[in-house]
Amino acid sequence: MGTTDISILAIESSCDETSASIIVNGKVLNNIVATQSVHEKYGGVVPELASRAHQENLIPVVQEALSSAGISKKQLSAIAVTRGPGLMGSLLVGVSFAKAFAKTLNLPLIEVNHMQAHVLAHFIEEPRPSFPFICLTVSGGHTQLVWVRDHLDMEVIGETQDDAVGEAFDKTAKLLGLPYPGGPLLDRYAKEGNPKAFSFPITRMPGLNYSFSGIKTAVLYFLRDRLEENPSFITENLADLCASIQYTLVEMLLIKLKEAMKQVGAKEVAIAGGVSANSGLRSTLAGLAERKGWKLYAPEFQYCTDNAGMIAMAAHYKYLRKEFVGDDLVPLAKLKL
Ligand code: KG4
Ligand code: ZN
Repeated sequence: MGTTDISILAIESSCDETSASIIVNGKVLNNIVATQSVHEKYGGVVPELASRAHQENLIPVVQEALSSAGISKKQLSAIAVTRGPGLMGSLLVGVSFAKAFAKTLNLPLIEVNHMQAHVLAHFIEEPRPSFPFICLTVSGGHTQLVWVRDHLDMEVIGETQDDAVGEAFDKTAKLLGLPYPGGPLLDRYAKEGNPKAFSFPITRMPGLNYSFSGIKTAVLYFLRDRLEENPSFITENLADLCASIQYTLVEMLLIKLKEAMKQVGAKEVAIAGGVSANSGLRSTLAGLAERKGWKLYAPEFQYCTDNAGMIAMAAHYKYLRKEFVGDDLVPLAKLKL
């Protein structure tokens, strides 16, 4: 590797995935992710346990990223890290490590906004969206409609006012007795069910905003009433329940997406975040895009969920603009886009 090459080590530790990635001249060479299984038995991410697991996993993950890319520490041009949003204790592990590593190697430090990185995951591989486009970022922690004007010029034009859509998937799945995280399981059962079997209310918020807290209460009361009549109601209707819940959540996502596309006059749409793996969302959105003449982009699954590859991609664009930060960098749990 020559002295003009730009090679960046990127670190992600905002929630429950510890990840490191190497990017050279804008090409992501690897994306090493250590997933924390410790949270499964608690039915959700336990912040204290997440920080501890990041501390255990971070150095091995960084070493693997460097060695599998065949790059030594001395060949790096910069260190990048997620500053937020996320869990404070988790972010602190990544940020403290990145600051110390950059200082020791005398390298520039780059801070990355996790939500911006979810959008930039679409630039890791071909085909890449063209500007301007709308990105629907949907995960366990976020639900945002982002108007993307350029790599580093984006604006949130709508977002959830309470729960994220991934949380709605996981919480309703839990009511059906499915283990955490229930989203992928609910998706699997939904494939066998009738999406119109049961009807749940569609929450409509003003503007382009979302609200996903109502559906879990609606499902809770619906199940309570049905279980009183028939204690085996859930097991006898699991696929139909999953399909109907999924249908409602996807409808809510797409109603506002359609409005957003119309409002900004975009012709390209991208989906990001863990929930973008949902088969109902993918197929309904693909049909909608075809009818409307939109170009649709959905990244490979490893770049949908939390990963350092997307942090590396964002860091590359920031490096080109020499957007470096000092070693007084502190994480921000509620960092805005
Ligand atoms: O992006 P992610 O890995 O982590 C963050 O929350 O940032 O997203 C995880 C979320 C969980 O809520 C999980 O249930 C949901 O994404 N998820 C799905 C599917 N795959 C993952 N939800 C519905 N259907 C899926 N196939
Ligand atoms: Zn995320």
